[in-house]
Amino acid sequence: MAKYALITGASSGIGRATAFALAKKGYDLVIASRNLEKLEAVKKEVEAAEHVAVTPIVLDVTDTAAIHQVTSVVLEKFGAPDVLVNDAGLARGLEPYAETDEEDILEMIDTNIKGLFLVTHDFLPAMVKRNSGHIVNLGSTAGLYAYAGAAVYCASKAAVKTFSDGIRIDLMATDVKVTTIQPGMVETPFSEVRFHGDKARAANVYKGIEALTPEDIADTIAYVVDTPRRMQVSDVVILANQQGTGFLAHKE
Ligand SMILES: NC(=O)c1ccc[n+]([C@@H]2O[C@H](COP(=O)([O-])OP(=O)(O)OC[C@H]3O[C@@H](n4cnc5c(N)ncnc54)[C@H](OP(=O)(O)O)[C@@H]3O)[C@@H](O)[C@H]2O)c1
Repeated sequence: MAKYALITGASSGIGRATAFALAKKGYDLVIASRNLEKLEAVKKEVEAAEHVAVTPIVLDVTDTAAIHQVTSVVLEKFGAPDVLVNDAGLARGLEPYAETDEEDILEMIDTNIKGLFLVTHDFLPAMVKRNSGHIVNLGSTAGLYAYAGAAVYCASKAAVKTFSDGIRIDLMATDVKVTTIQPGMVETPFSEVRFHGDKARAANVYKGIEALTPEDIADTIAYVVDTPRRMQVSDVVILANQQGTGFLAHKE
C-alpha cells in the first residue's frame, strides 16, 4: 500500500466525506465502523471516483478487544497509518444530566473518549517508531462551549481536545502531528442518532440556518494533513456562518 489513511466512523457524515477527500489526495484507505454494508458502499463509490484501494473493516470502538484485534491486523498488513482520523463519535439525548439515561452516558464516554484514546494508543507507537504520521481527532465546538442538555457530550469533546493537546506535547520531538478539528453545526445523521431515530426532531435542528456540510469539514482535514513538515495545525474551529459561538446561532 502507498500512503494510507485509516478513518473510523467512515460509514456516514464527516467520516464518509473525509474518505472521498483523502482519496482525492491519493491516499489508500482503511475505513472502519460497525456497519459493513455501508462501508462496502463507500468503498464502491470511492474506488469508482479515485484510483485508490479501499479496505473496509468492521470495528466497534467501544469494544476494547475488537480494537486490539483490528489494530494488530491493520498494523501487520499495512503498517502504521500515515493519517489516522478518529471520527467515530456520537451524542445521545438532549436532556439535563440528572435525566440522562445511564446507557446514553456510557455510550458517549465509551465511543467518544475510550474508543478514540485506545485506537490512538494502539497505532501511536508504530507512528513514533517510523517518525511520521498525522492524528486527526474530531472534537467539536461542544468541547469549547457547553450547551444545555449536553453535559456528557460536551465533556467528551473537551476530553478529545485536551487529549490531543497532551499527546502533541509528548510528540514534540517527533515528526508526528496532531490536529483537533472542532466543527460547529454540520448537517449529517448526527442529530437523528442523538434523538434515537426521531427524524422530525433531527430535521428541526437544521431548520432556518445553512449548516456546514460534511464536505466542508472533510476539505479542512484534507488541507491540514497536507501541510509542510515544519507546519502543524493544532486546532481548527469551524462555525456555520450564522453561528456566533458553538451554542448561539441566528435562525431565520
Ligand atoms: N454533525 C455535527 O454537527 C458535528 C459537530 C461537531 C463534531 N462532530 C463529530 O464528528 C464526528 C462524526 O459525526 P457525524 O456528524 O459525521 O455523525 P454521523 O453521520 O452519525 O457519523 C458518525 C459515525 O461514527 C460511527 N460510529 C458511531 N459509533 C461507533 C462505534 N461504537 N464504533 C465505530 N464507529 C462508530 C458511525 O458508524 P456506524 O454507525 O456505521 O458504526 C458513523 O460512521 C463525531 O465524532 C461527532 O461527534 C459532529
